[in-house]
Amino acid sequence: MTVLVTGGAGYIGAHVVRLLVRSGRDVVVVDDLSTGTAERVGGAELVRLDVAAPGSAEALARVLRRRGVTDVVHFAARKRVDESVADPLRYYQQNVDGLGAVLRACTAEGARSVVFSSSAAVYGDVAGGLVREDAPTAPVNPYGRTKLVGEWMLRDVAATGALRGTALRYFNVAGAGWPDLGDPAVANLVTRVLDAVGRGERPRVFGTDFATADGSGVRDYVHVMDLARAHVAALDAMAGDAEPYRCLNVGTGTGTSVLQVVAGLSAAMGVPIATEVVGRRAGDPAEVVADPAAIERVLGWRAEETLASTLASAWDAWRHARP
Ligand SMILES: NC(=O)c1ccc[n+]([C@@H]2O[C@H](COP(=O)([O-])OP(=O)(O)OC[C@H]3O[C@@H](n4cnc5c(N)ncnc54)[C@H](O)[C@@H]3O)[C@@H](O)[C@H]2O)c1
Repeated sequence: MTVLVTGGAGYIGAHVVRLLVRSGRDVVVVDDLSTGTAERVGGAELVRLDVAAPGSAEALARVLRRRGVTDVVHFAARKRVDESVADPLRYYQQNVDGLGAVLRACTAEGARSVVFSSSAAVYGDVAGGLVREDAPTAPVNPYGRTKLVGEWMLRDVAATGALRGTALRYFNVAGAGWPDLGDPAVANLVTRVLDAVGRGERPRVFGTDFATADGSGVRDYVHVMDLARAHVAALDAMAGDAEPYRCLNVGTGTGTSVLQVVAGLSAAMGVPIATEVVGRRAGDPAEVVADPAAIERVLGWRAEETLASTLASAWDAWRHARP
């Protein structure tokens, strides 16, 4: 079994690469290093390639053939909501064309399974309560729409019998499994708070007038190491059964507010953190929390880490990158 990990030099992908390598599996990484770095892939082979460029399906097929790839985990994509609103065509080109090329290469070379990085962004405005996979999908930005299109593409290809597919809908990913694999992007709450504190600024809280216990937005924070384990479980499940396609939430089932995250980071860092409360951001729902029952039932996966361990590992990795 050889696993191709696209985007394996990035934040989440590098965790999966390290986990697979340490469990004795053969791994090859394809990454254009646009946001990832070569050091993150460790001893695995790195092929530098833009999966969405003209001719990429053929280039990917050559990698699959040369390395005897049986399974693929596809992370390579753009993930910034603000950029996707400003330049939607780039997001469709990168995220949709990129997956198309990966699937063309897989079907041409007979790869048997694909795990696709989807997102809770496919749900859009959530009314509250735990979100199940059969909740309506109505993404509110181009990024979320590229992920939903990606799920449809994978499901349709899997329905032909050519391969098996699993789309994992990640909720809010944070932390680090190893201090050298922290999240380098200052794009989500945890890294935004760490960044602001490091600059001596007060992190901004977007709205404290939501209908939640403390008024700030509630999300489901999943440790990146737990998330990485879910990918390995998905690969193992596809090798062992005949279900063509699955779509599964990856979350803890527990909601945590923005103010609770700030308090948790304050405890991990051992410093008080004063915040600046500003207005809500357009399109921010009050609460988005996964119902993880399906992934628990189907893959036997459940989150093992706690909010405290997630935030402490994020802080360790942040310091590691800025000695
Ligand atoms: N981080 C999150 O909270 C989150 C949540 C939901 C879904 N996701 C999805 O998970 C995946 C990985 O996210 P991440 O946080 O590790 O992001 P990341 O930016 O750290 O990793 C993406 C990796 O893919 C590479 N890449 C990007 N476009 C490429 C292309 N066209 N060809 C080849 N390589 C390319 C980058 O260089 C990078 O190494 C993405 O698909 C993202 O949309 C992330």
